[in-house]
Amino acid sequence: MTGKTAIRGRLLDFIADPAEAGEEACYRYIADGAVVMEDGKIASIGPAADLPADMPVEDYGQALVLPGLIDTHIHYPQTRVIASYGAQLLEWLDKYTFVEEQKFADPDHAAAVAKFFFDELLRNGTTTAAVYCTVHPESVEAFFTESERLNTLMIAGKVMMDRNAPEALTDDAERSFSESAALIEKWHGRGRQHCAVTPRFAVTSTEAQLEAAGALMRGYPDIYMQTHLAENSAEIAAVAKQFPWSRSYTDVYDKFGLLGPRAIFGHGIHLSDGEIARLSETDSTVAFCPTSNLFIGSGLFDMGRLRGGGVKVGLATDVGGGTSFSMLRTAAEAYKVLQLNNQNLPALQAFHLMTRGNADALGLAGRIGTLEPGSDADITVLDTRATPAMAHRMDTIDGNLAEELFVLMTLGDDRSTLATYVAGERLYYAGR
Ligand code: GUN
Ligand code: ZN
Repeated sequence: MTGKTAIRGRLLDFIADPAEAGEEACYRYIADGAVVMEDGKIASIGPAADLPADMPVEDYGQALVLPGLIDTHIHYPQTRVIASYGAQLLEWLDKYTFVEEQKFADPDHAAAVAKFFFDELLRNGTTTAAVYCTVHPESVEAFFTESERLNTLMIAGKVMMDRNAPEALTDDAERSFSESAALIEKWHGRGRQHCAVTPRFAVTSTEAQLEAAGALMRGYPDIYMQTHLAENSAEIAAVAKQFPWSRSYTDVYDKFGLLGPRAIFGHGIHLSDGEIARLSETDSTVAFCPTSNLFIGSGLFDMGRLRGGGVKVGLATDVGGGTSFSMLRTAAEAYKVLQLNNQNLPALQAFHLMTRGNADALGLAGRIGTLEPGSDADITVLDTRATPAMAHRMDTIDGNLAEELFVLMTLGDDRSTLATYVAGERLYYAGR
């Protein structure tokens, strides 16, 4: 029994998408359960009563034990851009984001912010994210160095920008290719680290640079690609003007070979039927970023239309356009956005999305996102009665799990995180 440890609590994970399998058949719940971990993996799950008497156990009582939460789109250099007042996308980038991102030329600054960023993810129960760095290779080094130290499973990339940004934040097509390639050679597949080719968005890249991004994709077939798509109307007009030959915004990325099963497009609010069809055909993912879309005033994401069109949808915070690091807060705002579109987000679907659904959107199903034995032991422990208002409301739910989860996502935030485990190690503990 060498090295085995267990987490005890109410276990919950998903074995299927509730939208497909139905609410009864989609999840696995063990009221007094235990997850046994060994060598960074989940060794087994089952009733706590079956644990051997000599197994070291961390007992969380009535708390929920879930797979670590996953964020499919976030910017680590924007931890101090969050809550910047009064601008829509293009002005917001110029006035706040492009100012802040220049500081990441300094490796010490990048290292300090990376450290803060990981602390914040873990205190919110997030264990994996698809992350934008800045144009500076130093920012990527700082990010992966910290991620490797913590042993988190991360996806990240150097932002590629060669026009429409301050000089200090631009590279050129060749440099973005060679710097990205060097970072990929060093970090992609090293431990739990993964790289993403990261052209910021079509507005800040020349055709030559998008061509370079496509060449990176061809050169590294298992690499990720992340960028922004159809977030804001002024942005869409700029893309149409800069790429006059294009049939649509999506067509620009398509022309350079950037669509595909490992491509993650942030936002996708204003898309035509033809663009949705192309995203679906290529098995691309769109990241729904509700707090950002509301805060920057970008629009209401139409999840029903995208999913109905066969597009994989992930859920994401998009900090610093987004206003919270918490995936619970993000799910709550997703629910409200969908309400304004006459749609819904049942709690089981939301929790599926934050775990197994986002893992699947990132091509990581089987590795993270569930409590399945053999998968990585990335686990978050959530207190569903973390605040007086939550406890007061929870008194009425009468054992209804879906209702409990709905209250948790509507009222919960980082205060609900009791503990976060990464590859079997407890890296965050609220000490309650
Ligand atoms: N489009 C291009 N860059 C960004 C960014 O940093 N945040 C958001 N929300 N949209 C973008
Ligand atoms: Zn973004």
